[in-house]
Amino acid sequence: MITIIVAVGENNGIGLNNQMLWHLPHDLKYFRNKTSGHPVIMGSKTYESIGKPLPNRTNIVISRKKDWFQEGILIVGSIKEAVKFAKKIDDNIFIMGGGNIYEQTMEIADQLEVTLVKADLKADTYFPKIDLKKWRKVNEVCHQKDEKHAYDFCFQTYEKVESK
Ligand SMILES: NC(=O)c1ccc[n+]([C@@H]2O[C@H](COP(=O)([O-])OP(=O)(O)OC[C@H]3O[C@@H](n4cnc5c(N)ncnc54)[C@H](OP(=O)(O)O)[C@@H]3O)[C@@H](O)[C@H]2O)c1
Repeated sequence: MITIIVAVGENNGIGLNNQMLWHLPHDLKYFRNKTSGHPVIMGSKTYESIGKPLPNRTNIVISRKKDWFQEGILIVGSIKEAVKFAKKIDDNIFIMGGGNIYEQTMEIADQLEVTLVKADLKADTYFPKIDLKKWRKVNEVCHQKDEKHAYDFCFQTYEKVESK
């Protein structure tokens, strides 16, 4: 199972200046619970923005740059290679961005874990529009803003519609 996991605003924005657009502790916890123990695949810019490997997960970073090394991560030169290594580790693989990598992996993903953030914030990186002919929403749990969360948000799960 290949799952794309993302937090996306109402305008499909996911990042600005190589940073996230919001700080939602509940979403961070949700992300941690979903991905812990499983391999996570990310683009080099997303890795740079985090700055260190995520604990308790094999971090697979995709880059075309040669000859760089960082302790605690596996660097690969293509999405195909990333998925090949991830599959050797576990059946459940998570693709965690960013925009560039999401664009290239929508076709190979089986499931989307989307946190829809009810905000329309300035962004320079976007998530691809979810084509509802290809994806069916199978679960949604919403939360209201509070003192720790500046925006309402919903955890949504989409499954790929089987092509006949
Ligand atoms: N809201 C969310 O859930 C979420 C999640 C993740 C990231 N983000 C945000 O998204 C933004 C980063 O996204 P981004 O689109 O700029 O970058 P990205 O997808 O994280 O990384 C892009 C980089 O990945 C490498 N790459 C991409 N396709 C490749 C391929 N086919 N083969 C080999 N290498 C490939 C290249 O690295 P090299 O340049 O090293 O060759 C490319 O520059 C940030 O603002 C971040 O905060 C948001």
